[in-house]
Amino acid sequence: MLENHNQFMYICLEGIDGAGKSTQIKLLYDWLIESGHEVELVVEPTSSPVGVLIRKMLQNSRATEPDFQKTLGLLFAADRMILMDKIRDEESKGKIVISDRSFYSSMAYQSPSEWIAEINKFVRKPDLVILLDLDVETAVSRCQGTDEFEKKAFLSKVQKNYLELSDKEDFFVINANNGVNMVHRDIKRVVAPKLGICVDGIV
Ligand code: TYD
Repeated sequence: MLENHNQFMYICLEGIDGAGKSTQIKLLYDWLIESGHEVELVVEPTSSPVGVLIRKMLQNSRATEPDFQKTLGLLFAADRMILMDKIRDEESKGKIVISDRSFYSSMAYQSPSEWIAEINKFVRKPDLVILLDLDVETAVSRCQGTDEFEKKAFLSKVQKNYLELSDKEDFFVINANNGVNMVHRDIKRVVAPKLGICVDGIV
């Protein structure tokens, strides 16, 4: 039988550009709703004025340069701080919050990590992080955007940072090369036991 899993959950999907987060977060959202949960989907960068500025700046050809990265690090932290109000609100309504990216994106994309951790000191860290681990070549071939961040050398470094973080921070790592349905199934298998949902007879 279902256990009582009423405690708040802030669940986050992480991964390099092209890893399939936006597809998977929508599938996760639909599945949680179908399972009878109240869910709020959030995305970083957000649509706040800071988030809008970030999206514009990501198109700058200097976006991967160290100084520019530090500016972005500050902006991502500010955008996230704004998001915290919303997360607190949803939490008070008893909703599950699922997020496309979090603090850990800044830890993987920006540096140095001690400083990133410091400027994000007051943001809430997700209760559960699922890392979509996709081969960098495949990720780059999927990215059609104009962002500087979608270049191979940059994403390889980010991928390495993610894998290092995943050891330290106990992320659930999912092989994202497996196709949409299998990745969704694997995500469900991670989330289901946390929420007391029965999936494929495994809970
Ligand atoms: P992304 O999720 O890729 O948005 P979209 O699907 O619209 O392209 O996020 C935009 C970019 O921002 C992506 O390259 C990752 C980067 N990013 C950081 O570098 N640090 C952060 O803290 C966050 C949240 C995102």
